Amino acid sequence: TDLRNIRNFAIVAHIDHGKSTLADRLIQICGGLTEREMKEQVLDSMELERERGITIKAQTVRLTYQAQDGETYILNMIDTPGHVDFSYEVSRSLKACEGSLLLVDASQGVEAQTLANVYLALDHDHEIVPVLNKVDLPAAEPDRIKEQIEEVIGLDATDALEISAKTGRGVSDVLEAIVQRLPPPKGDIKAPLKALLVDSWYDPYLGVVTLVRVMEGTLKSGMKVRMLGTRALHDVTQVGVFRPGKTKADALGPGEIGYVISGIKDIADAKVGDTITEEKRPCEAPLEGFQPSVPVVFCGLFPSDTSQYEELRDSLGKLALNDSSFLFEPEVSPALGFGFRCGFLGLLHLEIVQERLEREFGLDLITTAPSVVYHVYTKNGGMKELHNPTDMPEPTQIDHIEEPWIKATILVPDDFLGPILKLCEERRGEQIDLTYVGDRAMVIYRLPLNEVVFDFYDRLKSVTRGYASFDYQLEGYREGDLVKLTIMVNGEPVDALALVVHRSQAEVRGRALCAKLKELIPRQLFKVAVQASIGGKVIARETVSAMRKDVTAKCYGGDATRKRKLLEKQKEGKKRMRQFGNVEIPQSAFLAALRMD
Ligand code: GTP
Repeated sequence: TDLRNIRNFAIVAHIDHGKSTLADRLIQICGGLTEREMKEQVLDSMELERERGITIKAQTVRLTYQAQDGETYILNMIDTPGHVDFSYEVSRSLKACEGSLLLVDASQGVEAQTLANVYLALDHDHEIVPVLNKVDLPAAEPDRIKEQIEEVIGLDATDALEISAKTGRGVSDVLEAIVQRLPPPKGDIKAPLKALLVDSWYDPYLGVVTLVRVMEGTLKSGMKVRMLGTRALHDVTQVGVFRPGKTKADALGPGEIGYVISGIKDIADAKVGDTITEEKRPCEAPLEGFQPSVPVVFCGLFPSDTSQYEELRDSLGKLALNDSSFLFEPEVSPALGFGFRCGFLGLLHLEIVQERLEREFGLDLITTAPSVVYHVYTKNGGMKELHNPTDMPEPTQIDHIEEPWIKATILVPDDFLGPILKLCEERRGEQIDLTYVGDRAMVIYRLPLNEVVFDFYDRLKSVTRGYASFDYQLEGYREGDLVKLTIMVNGEPVDALALVVHRSQAEVRGRALCAKLKELIPRQLFKVAVQASIGGKVIARETVSAMRKDVTAKCYGGDATRKRKLLEKQKEGKKRMRQFGNVEIPQSAFLAALRMD
């Protein structure tokens, strides 16, 4: 195909502003789908994505469009995930395109992820067409939102399109704008092959499938290709495009986006952002900026029922097949038994994995408190990446500890500004900027990630009744006065409840945890001490007083079935207990303690 007749574009938007609905419409107009197929949103293929209405994996569709100028164009639409945790994937998808549609809900306006994503698109030198969606809603205020786009983002919104992806109004103008306002790709068909690996996933029949954008040269089946980042070699067995169904093609030329099947067994060999070239005639330099995404949040996952360990391991393996950014390794905890330490790109990523394990694989899980990756510098000059608070070296061996910081952008209606500032200050935040976007405040804070992974997002939503939007970027590591808080039950440390906290908050946190555990630990025949300590020094203490009566005592002798039921219940409860020295703690206690607020 002539490069002049190709357009590659992404749709960038805040969650729920209508990206999938618009994508479906564009596919429908271009004849890719029947009415029946339209019923299901095709781009969000995984069940969970559909249920939660969010897009996890970037996917792409090739459309054929007959424009008003009489020419036929190939439009490659790349779907991008909207959430901050997947911003590296967004960035790779954007790199495969020359332009973006900036989709903004005309009743809501610019939100935190609108900003984050449009800035990413601008970083990639995209031409941007602003599109106001949902103009069918009575609350839509297209003129005000146009002003907002100009004011906040600095984009000219005079020619912004006004559409309703739901009713179809104005959608055909979007296709014309793509052809007329976005630039075609560039690239030399005779140059050595240089292609960007945009996405990869595991197909049970085909093995690993990769989505690529060819920059230079041609990618054909039968070629031997090399991944420049991982150095791996593979034989291409098939190339093709999505329309949206998989369709084989002879070759993919410069500017084209399509899939490649090349006998890769392990998803770890197909890293998003890598450069693919031909082995016998390699390109000189890889595409810039390849950095495989690294997990920033870790937590332990344990089966509630120890007999589910094998199942959990198999399920984690299956999930990892489709998600190269998700890590797991075996972990043994005296409190929770055999389980896995898992690494995620962020909190949403963690939540999605946890939910899929419980829902799709039917597992009942205990998740330990999420923790960030600390850099612990020891006195002997070494540095240890700490993924698990339990592994913290003795205080005497530590020189200093560094923790990751983020830059957070929060958009919030003016009325809720007070509580937001208070929340950020409580979490050791440093204000960088405070400006107004119409009647909403845009606050930019620097915050320690450790203060955000816990429950920041939930608090943010609750203090603003859901009106705030939030986005963040990692900024780097900074030294912090951090300590390991240990919880002990009758003198025995409970590893699953160990936390790394800032010294200024250790006491409050320790006291709250002890008080909570006191309520949760069932009475024993003896007194149980619950203590919180830092480096051997006890900072909080609670006592569970001894039990006096037998559980069946309240059954007044008589009723035998009732008595039996009660004893059975007690037995059932036993299965779910964990022994701590001479104290048994029900798993529900860990769960509740971990879910502290
Ligand atoms: P994520 O995949 O979570 O990023 O969401 P999205 O941006 O893809 O949003 P989606 O297309 O799922 O739309 C979100 C909601 O807005 C759905 O309930 C849609 O039916 C609705 N919606 C989308 N476009 C319009 C529109 O033009 N008008 C109205 N009234 N509702 C719309």
